[in-house]
This record gives sequence, C-alpha cells and structure tokens, in this order.
Amino acid sequence: MLFSRRRKLPRGRKLVCCTLLVIVIFIFYQIVTSFNDEDVEFDRQWTCEELKAKDRLVKLCKDFTNGNTGGNLCRDLCTSGELVIQDCLAHKNTTIVFSGTWRKNDIVFKTKRRPHHVENLEDVLSIGVSDDEPTAGDEQVYKKFVFHVFDHVQNELSFFRLKDMIGSEQQVLELLWHPHPLGELTWADMSSLWRLIQRDEFIKLQLLKEMKHIPRVYGFCGSFYAVEKVETIEGFSFTPFKRPMPWKKRLNAALDLLDLSKEFTETPLGQLHHCDIQPGNFGVAKDKRVVALDIDSMFGTKQMEDFLEQPTCESDAQCDFFDCVSACNTTENKCSRKILTNNLQIICRDILLSYWGQPGLLQRAPIHAQNKLSPVLSDCASDKMLPWKPGKIEKIYRKLKTILSEELVSN
Ligand SMILES: Nc1ncnc2c1ncn2[C@@H]1O[C@H](COP(=O)(O)OP(=O)(O)O)[C@@H](O)[C@H]1O
Ligand SMILES: [Mg+2]
Repeated sequence: MLFSRRRKLPRGRKLVCCTLLVIVIFIFYQIVTSFNDEDVEFDRQWTCEELKAKDRLVKLCKDFTNGNTGGNLCRDLCTSGELVIQDCLAHKNTTIVFSGTWRKNDIVFKTKRRPHHVENLEDVLSIGVSDDEPTAGDEQVYKKFVFHVFDHVQNELSFFRLKDMIGSEQQVLELLWHPHPLGELTWADMSSLWRLIQRDEFIKLQLLKEMKHIPRVYGFCGSFYAVEKVETIEGFSFTPFKRPMPWKKRLNAALDLLDLSKEFTETPLGQLHHCDIQPGNFGVAKDKRVVALDIDSMFGTKQMEDFLEQPTCESDAQCDFFDCVSACNTTENKCSRKILTNNLQIICRDILLSYWGQPGLLQRAPIHAQNKLSPVLSDCASDKMLPWKPGKIEKIYRKLKTILSEELVSN
C-alpha cells in the first residue's frame, strides 16, 4: 500500500501565513464597513458600544465644523455645550436614542433608520455639480427649496389640505425649524433638513406640535433630533419580582391615554390611526401628559386606507398593517380600504389589559375597581365585533372615564 506523505509547512511559516490571513480579513472587513457605515449598523441588533453610538456624535460635530452638516441644534451640541448628551438609551437595529439635557429640559436625542432611497437635494433642486456651493442667499435656490420641502411634506403624509392648515409654503419650513426662529439657512442646514424629513416621524412631530399628546421637539442636528424625554409606560410593567406602580399613578396614566385616544380622532391632520400601540411607544411627561413617543406608524385616514388596500389577499389575516386591520374581499381578492380597528380598542387590548402576556396598566387593580373595570375592558379590548357600531367608541370612552375618575377620587 502506498502512503502519500503530505509535506508539512514549517511551524514558523505556518504562523506567518495565519497572521497574513487574519490581516487580510481584517482589512477587507474594515473596507466594507467604512463604505457602508450607516447601512451596516442598522442591519442587526447592536449594542450602543458596537454601534459606536458616541462616535456618531463626534462625527456629527466634525461634519458640522467642516460645514457639511447643519441644523438648529448643532451649535448647542458642538460649540456652546448647551445640549449635553448623557447616556445611550436604546440601540435597536433601526434606532439610536441618547438621553441628555437641552437648556434645563430633559431630552432624548434620537435618529431613525435612513430610508432606502434618498434623493439628494442638489438633484431635487437641479443644481449641477460644477456649480458653486449654493446658499440660501441665492433667492432662486431658496425658493425652490421651500417649494420642494412643502411638496415633500404633503406627499409624505398624503395630506393635500396642508396649505389650508398652515397658510403658506414658507410656514411649513418655519414649523420644521420650530422652536428656533427661522433665520438665513446655510446649504448645510438645508441639505440636513432635507435628509431629516425623509424620515417622516420628525415631520409629524412638528406638524402636530400643538397637540397635548405629542412630545415637544427642541430641534435637530444632522439626522438626530431632540425630543422631550418621558417615562415610558413599558417601565410601568410589573413582574413577580417587580411591584406594580402605585394605583393612583396608573389611574392617571390610563385616564390620560383615554384622552389621547380622543385627541387623535380630531387633529390638524384629520383622524390619526396608530398602528404600533405598545407600552414602549407611549410615555408620561414631566407635566403628567401621556404622549405617543414613537409615531412612525401613525397615519391619517387617507394614507391608512391606501396602505390597507394594496395587498392581494385570500383571508382577513392578510389584511393587517401592524395593529391596523381591514377585511379581505374574497371575490376581488383585495383588502378593503375600510379600517376595522380603532385606537381605543388597541389601547385597551395592548396597554390597559396586557401586552404579549405581560400584565397591562390596569391589571392588579384593587378588587372593587377590578370588578367594575373587567367587563368594560374586555368588551373594549375584544377583537370580535369590529368595526364598532357608531357611538360605541364614545360609550366605552365614557364608561372607562367614569370608573377611572371615581377611583381617582376615592384613592
Ligand atoms: N421621547 C422619549 N422619551 C423617553 N424614551 C424614549 C423617547 N423616545 C424614544 N425612547 C426610548 O427609545 C425606544 C425606541 O424609540 P422609538 O421611537 O420607539 O423607536 P423604534 O421605532 O425603533 O421603536 C423607546 O421604546 C423608548 O424606550
Ligand atoms: Mg418604538
């Protein structure tokens, strides 16, 4: 029998080869990540450290100093120190959230996933690459900018009564720039704002700034914006090892959530449907207002109907958009435009009663309250009998409000 003897590499050479291989892999990895920095970091669950979240802020200020990034909070963040970042709070694959303070206000400084397709402002305004850097001093450029911002906002929200709501195109820009006075914008300010409004949460927050149940926005720098910091309702949840929040505090939050559901039926953008109702997306502000802190998935009726209508279907189960649900028309194999769920029903189901098996805000109530609340809550939370008959929203709202207010008085 013949045995072929493989020649072994000498130990030293083996070590050199391995080291070289590791170096090549490392360099390759570095090149890929440096090309694709922003995309890669959102592709999976990262920790704040892995995300190099703080480095993002250092880069933000470097870009501001170089004149490549703008916004009405850049100076406070990068130069005057009036915006102070303290901690990295959340670091999901889509979002980075820091906590901090801005002029004595507790804030979060957050950014969300960049949309897949973003048109460059230069292209939108048809400015050639060979042109000098455009500035707001150029009146033509500024006028075009104001028009395109207005146009983008109304298309993004499918809200074509925008002009009636605010008066003029220029006023949309003033709203987006709020609470800072709109002075002369640099090109960096304009292009950063343009990139920011591709993420529609910022637009909605600013257009709805007069609403009680929408958190205040304090401005932005690059793709980060500062919002009033609140205590999330997720923090109210209790486990066998964690005691529930005091009943009175839960009662107040529940009452204000009812108020929120009412306010959302009539807003400057018409009726709003919140399709991602969960304790982590709502919070209690310092002045005890309950606010919707994550409004990516909150839509006006027309936009909601357009979303629901799109897919083809064979059964009702295929006609939902997160929490917002319509029915399948099996003759046409098309989801109906009519939304079956409503905000109050989902709030009852996923916040007041329970959320993914976790006890809800009104669970573990004192026994006398529980007896009164249980039937109303289970009627409210039920997925059957949707859509509710006319008047049912008002009826359930009143019943819950009466029980909770009476409880509040007697506690
Ligand atoms: N204004 C805020 N105050 C306090 N915490 C916030 C605020 N905004 C966001 N957070 C925290 O960050 C988390 C993620 O933010 P969110 O806007 O819900 O992003 P996502 O769209 O990724 O869910 C929230 O669940 C909450 O814990
Ligand atoms: Mg969220």
